[in-house]
Amino acid sequence: MNNPASSSRAIFKPGEPLRGVISVPGCKGISHRALLLAALSDGGSVLRGLSLGGDVKSTLAVLEQLKIHATATATATGSELSLQSRGYDQFAESGEPLECGNSGTTMRMLSGILVGRPFQSVLIGDESLSTRPMARIVDPLQMMGAEIESTDGHSPIQINGGALTGCRHDLSVASGQVKSALLFAGMQASGWTEIHEPAPSRDHTERMLSALGAPIEILNSRTVRVRAVGALAPFTIEIPGDASSAAFFVVAATIVPGSEITIRGVGLNPLRVSYLDVLTEMGADIEREITDERLGELVGNITVRSAPLSGVVIKSREGIIDELPILAVAAATAVGETTITGAAEMRVKESDRISTTVAMLNALGSRAVATDDGLKIEGGSLLGGAVETHGDHRIAMCAAVAALVAAGHTEIIGWDAVQVSYPGFDVDLARLRESN
Ligand code: S3P
Repeated sequence: MNNPASSSRAIFKPGEPLRGVISVPGCKGISHRALLLAALSDGGSVLRGLSLGGDVKSTLAVLEQLKIHATATATATGSELSLQSRGYDQFAESGEPLECGNSGTTMRMLSGILVGRPFQSVLIGDESLSTRPMARIVDPLQMMGAEIESTDGHSPIQINGGALTGCRHDLSVASGQVKSALLFAGMQASGWTEIHEPAPSRDHTERMLSALGAPIEILNSRTVRVRAVGALAPFTIEIPGDASSAAFFVVAATIVPGSEITIRGVGLNPLRVSYLDVLTEMGADIEREITDERLGELVGNITVRSAPLSGVVIKSREGIIDELPILAVAAATAVGETTITGAAEMRVKESDRISTTVAMLNALGSRAVATDDGLKIEGGSLLGGAVETHGDHRIAMCAAVAALVAAGHTEIIGWDAVQVSYPGFDVDLARLRESN
């Protein structure tokens, strides 16, 4: 679906401020997890406001291949998805390779479930996913006795599911996906499975499992453990808006003079919104208000007014990884230099995001350079130009935001990459610009 060589194009022009109230599509990370947890439940779960992006569609399609069926129904306020399962026993062998598309989350988290299911599975992905590191799940799962093999550290991944034994994992990379895969395996293993990370990673799986009453213990911000559970209780959830999708509008409203927007019903999990603290440190005018909690996840509103920014040093902080490219766009419009360090993980995302962010900014007239573990950006003004997305949805949306403050037009080549996480991004952006 997401074709890195795609030549679909979009043109964005500078101009009007952003004004008004908006909600962003359901959180991609929580949508994946809600689908998998519903599949692990015994009974009928209802998911509202699910992300409609390509990645979550990949998880849905793979579940379908594994004989777990979901039904979508239109409602007055959108659509809802009902999923009926019998828990682990509902999973059945597909006989065909499981197509994970562009979605690392689908491939890694499902591997953690499938290693404990008594049948064979093969997981494959698109060109970009086939280059992403998989030893980070294969090695620790093998420590639990799993029969799982990668192809030279990448997909295809071959699994021969069977019995698992819990153990302690000391991970060398902090990763919400790897941690979740190990939790899903641990929920089928004998004894405790304990996971220790070098730094805190996003904790949606832990929060949702705790809210569902699973035997999970959070020992500290970097250590969690779980033991076997029969099946989870079915649940109903309204998925909060995606904090990482909101980041594009937060930066856009900050850098386009005269803007004021409110993003409603967005996920405010502290490990997902530390980018707001970085922007505030740069001078941004941002307020957040928590309004409710859903399956352990904080939800609320973010209000942003435009403000001048100054460069900062961004050391890879708790949870910020997907937002670094859009923070780099903010930095390109700031006064002074910004340095991003400790972010080597950017290189193994949907594209090598250190290289593609630098290339995007420089194509628009900025001065950015790549370092081993991040980038340096000299703030100033942008000219506009032609940007290649390299099939990366976040690079596409970053370029569209940068275009709003460029002197000329910006052409984005490979625009359809946005389908992966935010199919209606351009429509929502246009709506905020028309609300003047
Ligand atoms: C995700 C975790 C992060 C993030 C990805 C989604 C998740 O990846 O970049 O977009 O849902 O757990 P890592 O786990 O590789 O850091």
